[in-house]
Amino acid sequence: MIDYQRILNAIHQTAQKTEDRGKIADYIPELAKVDMHKFGIHLVNMNQENFCAGNSNEGFSIQSISKVFTLTMALGLLEEKLWERVDVEPSGDPFNHLSLLEFEKGIPRNPFINPGAIVVADVLVSHLKNPKDEFLAFVRDIADDDTIDYDSTVVSSEKRTGYHNYAAANLLKSFNNLENDVETVLDFYFHQCSLTMSCAQLANTFFLYINNGKCRRKNTHLTSGQVKRINALMLTCGFYDEAGEFAFEVGLPGKSGVGGGIVALHPNKFCVATWSPGLNDKGNSKLGMLALEKLTTETELSIF
Ligand code: DON
Repeated sequence: MIDYQRILNAIHQTAQKTEDRGKIADYIPELAKVDMHKFGIHLVNMNQENFCAGNSNEGFSIQSISKVFTLTMALGLLEEKLWERVDVEPSGDPFNHLSLLEFEKGIPRNPFINPGAIVVADVLVSHLKNPKDEFLAFVRDIADDDTIDYDSTVVSSEKRTGYHNYAAANLLKSFNNLENDVETVLDFYFHQCSLTMSCAQLANTFFLYINNGKCRRKNTHLTSGQVKRINALMLTCGFYDEAGEFAFEVGLPGKSGVGGGIVALHPNKFCVATWSPGLNDKGNSKLGMLALEKLTTETELSIF
């Protein structure tokens, strides 16, 4: 049996000693206020045993990690038709780049770059009666935790500075790949990104992606074919222009956010969430990546 707790403790100790923690995201001013020295890690295995170290119960802004949840909901609603509006190829570009979108006539490369996530948000806005309430209820259900909520301060902070996302949404609109108003879709998108969750909550929420689409409350949200697709997208597109490096170093599907969170998983084995607010120059948590590399090296558990 693998001694996950011993390994997480060792990872935490190494993290505490590491001085170069990258740079905090300050293009959303509210995120820049977070203490750079936080570090948390939480792992849940298939028996739903929990292992943790550091600040694993402290909430932070999940940002782009939320794109996995909106994709899950949209895939449930549109099934295969979703792929007519968003592709499934890695972009090789940073998360907010727009050049490919113009070049490829408004079809985003994948659902995890910002334009792709904005299309997915548009799908939810079109199909749900009360999109923000229903999405929050969905996340609470898959997390088995009704305390999870949006952070309105982060929403307003991002709204004030979200010029790139306004540009993306306007481009999508000009190519007829946005059904609703730019303002309405971005209001939803900024809310989904503002969700506050801890490593413990994230690891438990991602349980459904290691458990064939069935969440902790035993509700089935995805078919096993859909889980395969979402996990494949996390592997190939979850870290933008660092997806190759993440597969190379860590060897697991996963998703990052500019709040410094990363969630990664090994189907039928475990899911793990890390949090360290400092980012590398590709916008992924610097210590989070190091921690996960150490985890898969020590446990000898990667998908490869
Ligand atoms: O749209 C944005 O720029 C942010 N709300 C989310 C970006 C993000 O988390 C990218 N991830 N690594």
